[in-house]
Amino acid sequence: MAIKIGIVGLSRGLNFIKCAKLHGLDIVAICDKDQKRLDFAKNRCPETTKCFTDYDEFLKEDMDAVALINFFNEHTPFAIKAMEAGKDVLCECTAASTLAECVELVEAVERTGRHFMLAENYPFMQGPLEMHNLYKSGTLGRVLYSHGEYIHPGTLEDTNKFTRGEYHWRSWTPRTYYLTHSIGPLMFITDAYPKTVTAVSASAPELCKGTAKHTSDGIACMLCNMSDGSVCSFTGAGAIGGRGNWYRISCLNGFVETVRGDGDSVCLQYNPWEIPEGKFERQTYVPNIVGADHPAAVVRDAGHGGGDYWVMKQFKEYCEGKTQPYFDVYRSVQMSAIAILAWRSVLEGGTTKDIPDFKDKAVRELYRNDTLSPFPKADHTTDIPCSKQEYHPTEEDMEEARKTWKKYGIVEIND
Ligand SMILES: NC(=O)c1ccc[n+]([C@@H]2O[C@H](COP(=O)([O-])OP(=O)(O)OC[C@H]3O[C@@H](n4cnc5c(N)ncnc54)[C@H](O)[C@@H]3O)[C@@H](O)[C@H]2O)c1
Repeated sequence: MAIKIGIVGLSRGLNFIKCAKLHGLDIVAICDKDQKRLDFAKNRCPETTKCFTDYDEFLKEDMDAVALINFFNEHTPFAIKAMEAGKDVLCECTAASTLAECVELVEAVERTGRHFMLAENYPFMQGPLEMHNLYKSGTLGRVLYSHGEYIHPGTLEDTNKFTRGEYHWRSWTPRTYYLTHSIGPLMFITDAYPKTVTAVSASAPELCKGTAKHTSDGIACMLCNMSDGSVCSFTGAGAIGGRGNWYRISCLNGFVETVRGDGDSVCLQYNPWEIPEGKFERQTYVPNIVGADHPAAVVRDAGHGGGDYWVMKQFKEYCEGKTQPYFDVYRSVQMSAIAILAWRSVLEGGTTKDIPDFKDKAVRELYRNDTLSPFPKADHTTDIPCSKQEYHPTEEDMEEARKTWKKYGIVEIND
């Protein structure tokens, strides 16, 4: 019997519809409070799919699982509600937006016994997948240094299309928070995780001109001591020039990295005195796709260099009890905690923070009430700044942003 899935949040969620269909999941219901998005998505679903604008009503449907692609900082309460309603959860990044939510989410998974998987897709692009296999093969030796970049600048119009109001999450997300696409691949490739984090950010208030954004840093950079004794540096999503994502692991015998500007290819180099038999000193190549149920072109076209394909396949097999996902609830909240604590490091001028182990019940007690958040509450106040230098959109900024929202019929989000 096909897994019955419901999908919430139908912007990025459109790709989940595509991948769910590809893997033969039964899309029972879709939900978005924006009627226009709901109507658009309905046309891509089977005729039997039911449509909802209310999440609680949607959850009453008979489904095995729910995919959460709603606002970045609202995943935890949605995930807990779904699991308490007896559904498994596939959750977009980030899993939790406060340390208290990290505790709540872990305990909800343990209490309900439901499956929880983060839909982190960048580790499963062709390049990082090959790096993972190569590192596991052992020819490179022990990793000592790894690096990950995720850079996503946009035109003024694109920024305004995606930042859909002064109180939309994209207006307030600190530069360390969107990090799963940079640290996630490194964790997956090396199977190590950050033990401490130290972070800095670079202000670029000029990027806010003509937008509704409060986040005025252009980039944040994090530095971690890893569980395997290596060190690691990576960015959060950055708005600096030159779009792309790039990963490197440097080991005792050589390095492997993705090729800049070509996420599918890797460059592998051994020390001349440590070249394994049958290998070259330096080689750049496109790895083969292995283990897919579909042709390579279908895998790649599924989105994000094939990453979206593998995420849905893993989730399906997880729900069927055939596999365990790499990004389970513990690794998912670990990444959220790095983001949150890295941001405190930035605000404190680069202090070093220990990353909590949420498997440890005593550790949970230290964070159970830690609700500090840079995202605005209902009264539009925040606990901590979302940028090193605070920026408040001016009337001229908002006027410029509204031109784009009007042009594309975007409903401004003000709560
Ligand atoms: N992994 C990736 O490659 C990738 C790419 C883009 C976005 N994302 C993630 O996907 C998520 C969504 O991103 P987006 O760009 O689509 O954001 P978005 O804000 O444009 O869309 C979120 C959608 O959720 C809907 N929504 C919010 N609250 C709701 C509620 N209570 N009930 C019903 N619908 C509700 C909104 O109306 C909106 O249509 C984020 O967590 C983001 O980080 C991941």
